[in-house]
Amino acid sequence: MQNKFESLELGQFIPLHYHHNMLNDTARMQGFKDAIDLAVKPGAKVLELGGGTGVQSFFAAQKAQKVYCVERNPELISAARNLLAQNSNGDKVEVIQADAMHYLPPEPIDVVICEMLHTGLLREKQMPVIDSFKQRYLKKFGGPLPAFIPEASIQAIQPIQHDFHFAGFYAPTIQFQNPYATQERSTSLGDPEVFQLLAYAEPYSQTCQWDGEILITEDGQLNALRLITKNLLAINMSTCSTIDWHTQYIVFPLAEPIKVSRGDQVSIRFSYQGGAPLNALTDSLQVRLISKQTPVLEFAMEAMNRSAEFRPRPAENASIR
Ligand SMILES: C[S@@+](CC[C@H](N)C(=O)[O-])C[C@H]1O[C@@H](n2cnc3c(N)ncnc32)[C@H](O)[C@@H]1O
Repeated sequence: MQNKFESLELGQFIPLHYHHNMLNDTARMQGFKDAIDLAVKPGAKVLELGGGTGVQSFFAAQKAQKVYCVERNPELISAARNLLAQNSNGDKVEVIQADAMHYLPPEPIDVVICEMLHTGLLREKQMPVIDSFKQRYLKKFGGPLPAFIPEASIQAIQPIQHDFHFAGFYAPTIQFQNPYATQERSTSLGDPEVFQLLAYAEPYSQTCQWDGEILITEDGQLNALRLITKNLLAINMSTCSTIDWHTQYIVFPLAEPIKVSRGDQVSIRFSYQGGAPLNALTDSLQVRLISKQTPVLEFAMEAMNRSAEFRPRPAENASIR
């Protein structure tokens, strides 16, 4: 059920000073700039859902004929209008105060830019906003759908051991990690397992879920899971390459740490709705050690025990002269 204060929650309401952090994020900015440059053809019509400061609309306006930039937060509406007026081709961008869940442009468009991305596709409304847009757009204009930036998101989960001590203070709370930096506090206990591949132009379920097993590759204390979201901002068919951007990793502490050894399997199960609060993942999370050894190791141990029965005992040795 929708919380009546939801529009004021962090993720839905992002104050202007947070946008300056986003403008400072070089990987994000360069990724979107390159993707927009690739996807927006000269003379195109573009729609941005959740325009913020208007930066992505500005990138699009360098080639587009017209950009509709939809934003809900009044503080950002005036910031975007003000900033776009100071930048080249800003006059091609129409900033519209509206809810992206309801807005449709007055004409068909070629490209939709939507950066309501949060790790896990939690918290921000990327999944429901694009799904709602597609349904309403097809009803009003018929097909084809415009291209989407990002084109897809790939999500993975990884078992880790994480140090939750801070100057001696133990605080196993949700942490964010820079995906482009070395993680001093974390040790990987297994490879990341992909649990979702979502192409925004295709029909998709609103549920993000997994029920699977991961092989443990290092001994350790499994006390957290790392959630990874990689966004394919654009796919370059001519070079068979993608322009990617990872949102920050999220580290979710486990309520009950599990001692694991190399060769163990852990089963992980969760299910949440796209755009749900961060705790939706942990609320549904079940992590279980399902076998102490892989079948290969079990087989090897059994074979070793069997061969031990045929080894001569010291007493028998003594009788053989
Ligand atoms: C992560 S920010 C991205 C801003 C900008 N596109 C950029 O890349 O810098 C998401 C933006 O979407 C806006 N937003 C969130 N929900 C919205 C909605 N339902 N309708 C319109 N704007 C929305 C927020 O106010 C925020 O400015």
